[in-house]
Amino acid sequence: MKRYVSTCISGMQTVVNDVFSRTLSAYRPLRVYDGLLIYETDTDPVQLAKPGVVNNTYLLNCIFKDDLSGDINDAIRKNLSALRLDTEFLRRSGVLKKQRSFKLFANDRNRPVRLDYALTAPLEKQIQSTLGLRLELRRPDAEFVFSRRSEGMLLFMTKLTYSRVTEKDLPQGALRPELCRLLAEIAEINPTDIVLDPFCGHGSIPVQVMKNYRYNMIFANDSDAQLIAAFKKEYGKNDRRLFIKCRDVLDPANFQDDFIDKIVTDPPWNVYQHSEADFADFYTRMLREFARILKPGGNCTILMGNLPDFEAAMRQVPQLVLQARYPILVNGKKATVFRLGKENAT
Ligand SMILES: C[S@@+](CC[C@H](N)C(=O)[O-])C[C@H]1O[C@@H](n2cnc3c(N)ncnc32)[C@H](O)[C@@H]1O
Repeated sequence: MKRYVSTCISGMQTVVNDVFSRTLSAYRPLRVYDGLLIYETDTDPVQLAKPGVVNNTYLLNCIFKDDLSGDINDAIRKNLSALRLDTEFLRRSGVLKKQRSFKLFANDRNRPVRLDYALTAPLEKQIQSTLGLRLELRRPDAEFVFSRRSEGMLLFMTKLTYSRVTEKDLPQGALRPELCRLLAEIAEINPTDIVLDPFCGHGSIPVQVMKNYRYNMIFANDSDAQLIAAFKKEYGKNDRRLFIKCRDVLDPANFQDDFIDKIVTDPPWNVYQHSEADFADFYTRMLREFARILKPGGNCTILMGNLPDFEAAMRQVPQLVLQARYPILVNGKKATVFRLGKENAT
């Protein structure tokens, strides 16, 4: 069984671990750190290379204990004779089928550092001769990475994930697909669920739900008419069970009582563009509305960066009970994912 490393949003490792336990074949976590999982699985690496709930996935070629003394090149030198790369597995599995060029990289506690190429020249030769890749220092297709971590280890890995969405592909303010997937996983969407994102913006969350889950209906609302028009133009005809509407979240005419199973959403935070509006009051009215429209047993999963106002609002709406909270980092900024449930009537 092969070992892999996946990096994920800081704070989301337990959610990723749960997803992997359910979806990967013969999954066995070996170590779970903040933002990093090391595990075994016999899942096809081509599957692991596809976009999902993680940032990147690597085949773990070798792992060494490291006391963090000296620099990363000293650490590599110490372990040089034990350095292994299973090029036969990489070739057979076809994970690097589309790659033509490669480079060796190094990072030390998340900072890129310079490799002593005299040390790694034999490795480069092995990659060139057995995988048929050519060395390309500027824009390599494939990446082989030495990573020294503060947890006291040196990893040597082959990157598998190459089809990730980059920041440049996303419209301003849109959430990354893997974060939307994680929010949907926390919500536990079922095939019979009516799902709502009342602050859908560019539609990042509804699109990920549509692409990756079975559901009954999805409602994607936002008060910005332009965003709604653009989202409708792109996705309006994709699925007859997706309803895209320009609506204010507080409008009581949007939904009848007890109609929605899962709300998955990213409300405005009022943290970066500070408005004079009273956000504790806005969140209180929003949560009261959620409590009204959710079915008993339903839940809302909310990405929130404005803790003082949101926690004040939560105290005002005891009908929604805190089921889980995950402090995370989104692009280096602190945020929290809350899952609040509407209890079944007794
Ligand atoms: C943080 S953004 C959501 C971004 C979205 N998750 C995405 O990836 O594009 C918040 C959204 O809430 C919308 N919004 C603000 N106040 C609203 C209200 N009262 N009712 C409905 N939508 C509102 C804004 O237009 C904005 O699109």
